[in-house]
Amino acid sequence: MPRSGYGPLMMRALIVDPTRPHAMRLANVPQPLPKHGQVLVEVRHIALNPFEIHLATSGRLPPHWVLGWDTAGIVVAAAHDPGESGRVWGEYGPSIGDRVVAHGRRGGWAQRRTATVDNLAVVPDAVDLAAAATLPVAAGTALGALREAGALLGKRVLVTGASGGVGRFAVQLAALAGAFVVASVGCEARSRGLRELGAGEIVVGLDEVTEPVHVVLDAVGGHQLVQAFGLLAPGGVIQSFGGSSGEPAVFPPYSTAGPGKSLRSFELSPALADDLIFLLGLVEEGSLTAEIGWRGPWERHEEAVNALLTRRVNGKAVLDIT
Ligand SMILES: NC(=O)c1ccc[n+]([C@@H]2O[C@H](COP(=O)([O-])OP(=O)(O)OC[C@H]3O[C@@H](n4cnc5c(N)ncnc54)[C@H](OP(=O)(O)O)[C@@H]3O)[C@@H](O)[C@H]2O)c1
Repeated sequence: MPRSGYGPLMMRALIVDPTRPHAMRLANVPQPLPKHGQVLVEVRHIALNPFEIHLATSGRLPPHWVLGWDTAGIVVAAAHDPGESGRVWGEYGPSIGDRVVAHGRRGGWAQRRTATVDNLAVVPDAVDLAAAATLPVAAGTALGALREAGALLGKRVLVTGASGGVGRFAVQLAALAGAFVVASVGCEARSRGLRELGAGEIVVGLDEVTEPVHVVLDAVGGHQLVQAFGLLAPGGVIQSFGGSSGEPAVFPPYSTAGPGKSLRSFELSPALADDLIFLLGLVEEGSLTAEIGWRGPWERHEEAVNALLTRRVNGKAVLDIT
């Protein structure tokens, strides 16, 4: 990592640049300095999320902003915390050299990032580091939204956008929890592999759903969300977490009346460490598969973003920092 005079250490990062395709480009930026409770991670893999791309192109971020939530890499500086006296410093969390999956709300699309200890987990040797990078937002959302929906044993669970990042994890986790999973996709080709992941039924659009469902995990929004509400059994719940369709959801008058049906919004927890440990354990024992539908060096970020936005990625898109 070259030093620039007496200034900060510099590194490569994908920065926001409104003049470029998808408003991002690789550039040299200062390396971040970890604060109390943060490790410094040498990033090896980045998993992309559609909302990050939306943020980059939204015009709401200043140029040169380094985005990036989901990463995996190697700890190069451990976290420190002042002891009770405020003067004694102790190391805690993962050690230098540990392989970690690290999540944070910015700074991940870079050679080095900081991450707080409550938002990362050590990756077991048997788990591929690139696969680990896919877990925080996508599997964390699937896990959190299903958990908030309550017990799933014997329930019919509908997953919309089942071909995507969150969807493929949701299908697997709902099946693991004992649900009968109905996976909804946009076309036949997008259903590849979903049966093997645990889907009991695959539908192309919700017109094909013939029996009521107890839980819906909705990634799509718009008219599919409205239609999904109509498919709920009495007491059923929709966990709405996404809006991939970009459409508004317009509920006709009285369509939301129903015996105990509910529509809840879900937001990912800001502290994912415990969920990451749980998810990594499932991957390690072979109960959960992290499906990577696009993978390549981060110089090809434009191609990866195009594939994600045009619905050509089954599962997650991962950039490798070479
Ligand atoms: N609230 C939260 O905390 C949270 C966390 C994670 C994600 N999200 C949101 O949840 C949604 C899904 O995330 P993801 O990572 O699973 O995204 P993804 O990998 O892009 O998958 C989204 C899926 O939605 C389906 N879809 C249906 N209509 C679409 C349309 N008009 N345009 C694009 N996709 C369409 C696609 O499946 P087909 O091609 O088979 O139709 C696609 O596989 C996104 O809106 C994301 O921002 C929210």
